Amino acid sequence: MNGRIHFFDYHPPVADIREEVLAGLSRRPKRVAPKYFYDQRGSQLFDAITEAPEYYPTRTEVDILESNGSQIADFLGNDCMLMELGSGSSRKIRVLLDALQPAAYVPLDISRSHLLDAATSLAQDYPELEVYAACTDYSSDFELPELPADLPRAAFFPGSSIGNFEPEEAGQLLKRVGRHLGEGGKLLIGVDLKKDKAKLDAAYNDAGNVTAAFNLNLLERINRELEADFRLECFEHLAFFNEDAGRVEMHLRSTREQQVSVAGQPIRFAEGESLHTENSYKYSVEEFQALAEDSGYQAETVWTDEGQLFSVHCLRYRGGLNGKSMHN
Ligand code: AVI
Repeated sequence: MNGRIHFFDYHPPVADIREEVLAGLSRRPKRVAPKYFYDQRGSQLFDAITEAPEYYPTRTEVDILESNGSQIADFLGNDCMLMELGSGSSRKIRVLLDALQPAAYVPLDISRSHLLDAATSLAQDYPELEVYAACTDYSSDFELPELPADLPRAAFFPGSSIGNFEPEEAGQLLKRVGRHLGEGGKLLIGVDLKKDKAKLDAAYNDAGNVTAAFNLNLLERINRELEADFRLECFEHLAFFNEDAGRVEMHLRSTREQQVSVAGQPIRFAEGESLHTENSYKYSVEEFQALAEDSGYQAETVWTDEGQLFSVHCLRYRGGLNGKSMHN
């Protein structure tokens, strides 16, 4: 028997995407939010990045999860309703499912086809698992499907995707997750640690150029979905650790002066002008715990690897800030 899949589609309409992309392209500096990387090809390219030798976060996080599986299972608790933000190919959840039997798994991802494929193969491999897959943009106020009531709630937010938000937005997102979890709900979250610039620069500039292809695929997606005419050969991938800001930045730099049409709007690029596509903030353990505490969580446990590359935090939602109830 296969596990059951319930699928919920809250994908934003293309008109919203058009409006947001055009608004970003008219800013100075120009920018497009990193959530737009993840069409089907972008999600596949991201999976390929996680295999690149230079990109240490994925394998380091998986090692931490594997080495601490039984403590993680004790923390999250069997029979919980376990949601996962940015589930992608749902590979990491398999590590948890070897140690934990949740009553239901709720993967949330913006890439519809990737989510469906991953949920289908997970339901086949874990026949007892009830899967409530929701295609949604969790970067804004997101909806959850109608879920069985009375199950204790837990969330898994791996991969340091929290780092792709500005710290203030990251705090808002943690609060929104907290509201879905309810008081006492648990959050297991992976966070990339601050480290030396050379290691970070290499991780976002792999020799196989997979990260460059991932970055450039954003333009291909905009061409296809928003009737644009970006010429990919006229942009180059740029990624570096900005030590002062504590983040890796990714850009697409125009190699010449040019004009692009996006949904009928002319967009001019000067030679060397950049389109900022991603920030990936890195946190020390203390910095991240302070952010979590300010967002209404209590830090319970944190694991790091021997090389101090990556951290996995267990947090418990207190349900209010400084003992007061939270309304924002
Ligand atoms: C998904 N996210 C946490 C990745 C990161 O490292 O910020 C996305 C990525 N961008 C380039 N390489 C990987």
